[in-house]
Amino acid sequence: MKFFIDTANLNDIKEAYDLGILDGVTTNPSLMAKEGITGSQNILKHYVAICNIVEGPVSAEVIATDFEGMIREGEQLAALHKNIVVKIPMIPEGIKAIKYFSGKNIKTNCTLIFSAGQALLAAKAGATYISPFLGRLDDVSTDGISLIEQIRGIYDNYAFDTEILAASVRHPMHIIHCAEIGADVMTGPLSAIKALAKHPLTDIGLQQFLADHAKGNK
Ligand code: G3P
Repeated sequence: MKFFIDTANLNDIKEAYDLGILDGVTTNPSLMAKEGITGSQNILKHYVAICNIVEGPVSAEVIATDFEGMIREGEQLAALHKNIVVKIPMIPEGIKAIKYFSGKNIKTNCTLIFSAGQALLAAKAGATYISPFLGRLDDVSTDGISLIEQIRGIYDNYAFDTEILAASVRHPMHIIHCAEIGADVMTGPLSAIKALAKHPLTDIGLQQFLADHAKGNK
């Protein structure tokens, strides 16, 4: 299972990358705005800065919602760095854009996936990744993990190459459930990734080992 971090914060990206377990990065316009990155030139520079930290796919989202605009922006993003993946929303124009980029060998991440039908369409168009937002489904009392499971079944039935990138991950149990189901990738905040390492018995056990070592070496 691949681990992506879902942020535009360079410190968090570096910290996750230094752990040695980070495979890539996802961003979105809200995450860029949260870091105060505004204006198209600054946004493009920020993507390059992210690519210079992490050796792995970096999803960069188009803002246009019409086919021509998405193609123009996507080509500009893809030209920034070999690891850029063009992130495209699940709308009819987006499906056309994914099909276009798949014919050009430009990688895509179809975002804002909330149903199995949307996931099926994106795979047929040739998306490299699809991003089902499991946390946002949980927010409206719908089981996000069940959607990931349903998509896994559909993709396996037809051996689609499209990777399931579980997004809107909020906490460590989301990551564990995604791993049990067989999501190809998960993307979440640094806090959720670091929380996987935590266990009180680990802390208590380590304290005991260090105390016993200190006693024996007096
Ligand atoms: O990758 C999608 C993600 O950025 C959305 O997460 O927590 O805003 O639902 P969230």
